[in-house]
Amino acid sequence: MQLSEPLTRAYNAQVKLEFESSFVYLQMGADLELRSLPGFSRWMRLQAAEEHGHAMKFIDFVLSRGGRLELQALEKPAPTPGTVVEVFEAALRHEQRVTKAIHDLYAQALEERDFASLPLLQWFVNEQTEEEATVSQILERLRMVGEDRTGLLFLDRELGQRQAGGGGAAGDGGEAAEAAG
Ligand SMILES: [Fe+2]
Ligand SMILES: [Fe+2]
Repeated sequence: MQLSEPLTRAYNAQVKLEFESSFVYLQMGADLELRSLPGFSRWMRLQAAEEHGHAMKFIDFVLSRGGRLELQALEKPAPTPGTVVEVFEAALRHEQRVTKAIHDLYAQALEERDFASLPLLQWFVNEQTEEEATVSQILERLRMVGEDRTGLLFLDRELGQRQAGGGGAAGDGGEAAEAAG
């Protein structure tokens, strides 16, 4: 069954949002690099790559369903906030926005009885739960260290251990990203 016009439009909007997510993290990563926080920067870069992968996953799905990809102009990322806590607060807000968009997409697919969309969208529902949890956990730990520079450097070293293709907080093996393919 070919994708409907409205659902094709919704997927194209989601592709835009995923590429924008990639830009958001790339900008944050670049700015953290300049603030001598290479670990946070690495984490952000890997997150940017993961978001790019999300966009590609949606693109592949649209094409496999005979839908037309229509790439959109991307929003410029907002200026990176001044403190690392604020950077991760902004990241969390961004992920919450993406979660809502995925849920809306899921609701629309259900409404249209486009059941072939559901496994893909369920994967993204789970992925968003995990991403929000990861960012929240990092944020909590950043709040714990507060103004303590030593603590911040410790977290920087830890986040710098994130492996390519890995999902979450430092050190975790990243099962989720393996599923991402
Ligand atoms: Fe994403
Ligand atoms: Fe994300």
